[in-house]
Amino acid sequence: MLLEIKGLNLWYGDRHVLKDINLTLDRGEVLCIVGESGSGKTSILYSILGLLPEMARLEGSIRFMGKELVGLAEREYRRLRGRHISMVFQEPSVYLDPLFKIGVQVEEAYKAHFREGDAKSKALEALRRAGIQEAERIYQSYPHHLSGGLKQRVCIAIATICDPELVLADEPTTALDVSLQSLILQLFRDMKKENRSVILVTHDFGVVAEVADRVIVLKDGCIVEEGDVYEIFDKPKHPYTQELIRAI
Ligand SMILES: Nc1ncnc2c1ncn2[C@@H]1O[C@H](COP(=O)(O)OP(=O)(O)OP(=O)(O)O)[C@@H](O)[C@H]1O
Ligand SMILES: [Mg+2]
Repeated sequence: MLLEIKGLNLWYGDRHVLKDINLTLDRGEVLCIVGESGSGKTSILYSILGLLPEMARLEGSIRFMGKELVGLAEREYRRLRGRHISMVFQEPSVYLDPLFKIGVQVEEAYKAHFREGDAKSKALEALRRAGIQEAERIYQSYPHHLSGGLKQRVCIAIATICDPELVLADEPTTALDVSLQSLILQLFRDMKKENRSVILVTHDFGVVAEVADRVIVLKDGCIVEEGDVYEIFDKPKHPYTQELIRAI
């Protein structure tokens, strides 16, 4: 098992935003998290990656590759982030630094963990894998030169350049047109073949149908439904899930 979350509870100040979350993820598995806005999807990903705000209080257990992440020192987290767990953020333009060229930012994700090797060729390869054909030109560009969809693909390149065991992807295809969307979903399927895993947050049950092995449905911080993708599509139990499936 790659990831095991047990009895996870999260509070932002007085607000209880994750309530007794339990989930597991195997190597080579894609888990989709669906749920309405504010249900806590991003909060689950931030809890895993240790990116919660100061006033957050987290209880429970998150074991990743045998290591307990709840309470892990920041220094240890820095060794994991980007290298073993990476994240594609919901809002890519916030993540990219406007002052640095794309190439520098993609390479930095690699150089933080590997000394040897050619960071530039790795960066160009990661950009191409994320569906950027003019990788050399984009490498030389600043973020403000790029469309939202391109920025999103750059973030996917940054998240995948080190071939991490786990990619957390928060609505990674929303700014992309249909053909680019299927290219990114193909990238996730390729990760499965290499026995790597993805947790994908999405509102889109079409996306779920294309890549998910298993699905959890979140509502008000609780898991209200969980199952493999066929079960969920055949016999959705929760009214919210039924509604989402009707929408496609
Ligand atoms: N930094 C924060 N401080 C206080 N409350 C927060 C913070 N971030 C999120 N919340 C609250 O926690 C709850 C869960 O938020 P979260 O961002 O995890 O939801 P989400 O399912 O990702 O929503 P969306 O689909 O809109 O991205 C929401 O009620 C939100 O308002
Ligand atoms: Mg979110």
